[in-house]
Amino acid sequence: MKFFIDTANLAQIKEANELGILDGVTTNPSLMAKEGIKGRDNILKHYVDICKIVKGDVSAEVISTDFEGIIREGEELASLHENIVVKVPMIKDGIKAISFFKSEGIRTNCTLVFSPGQAILAAKAGATYISPFIGRLDDIAFNGLELIAQITGIFAVQGYETQVLAASIRNPIHIVKCAEIGAHVITSPLEPILALLNHPLTDSGLQKFLADHKKANG
Ligand code: G3P
Repeated sequence: MKFFIDTANLAQIKEANELGILDGVTTNPSLMAKEGIKGRDNILKHYVDICKIVKGDVSAEVISTDFEGIIREGEELASLHENIVVKVPMIKDGIKAISFFKSEGIRTNCTLVFSPGQAILAAKAGATYISPFIGRLDDIAFNGLELIAQITGIFAVQGYETQVLAASIRNPIHIVKCAEIGAHVITSPLEPILALLNHPLTDSGLQKFLADHKKANG
């Protein structure tokens, strides 16, 4: 399972990258706004800055919702760097655009996927990745992980090449369960990734090892 970080914060991207476990980055317009990145030129430059930090796919989201606009924006984003993946919303014109991008050799990430039917359509259109949102489903009392399991099952049965990129991760259990279910990729904020490191027995065990070494060696 690949690990992507879900942020536009360069310091956090660097921190995750330095762990040596990072395979890519996903962003969205809300995450860009959170970092205060605004204006077309600054936004495009920020994507290039991210691509310089990480050797892996970087999802850059279009803000157009009509076919022509999505194509225009997507082509510009894809031309920024070979690792850019154009993130396209799960809407009718988005699906049309994903088919078009596929024929042009531009890779895509279909975002805002909340049902197996949407996932099937995006896979049929030739999306490189689809992003089902776990946390936002959990928030409205639907089981987000069950959706991941259903989609990975369908894609395996159908032999779709599209990768399931589990998004809207809120905690380390989401990551562990995605690995168990067979999601191809998770994209997570830094905190749940770092939380995977923690166990109280690791901490107490290490303290004891160090104390015993000190006792014996002075
Ligand atoms: O980038 C899409 C997704 O990961 C958003 O997460 O926490 O805003 O639901 P969240």
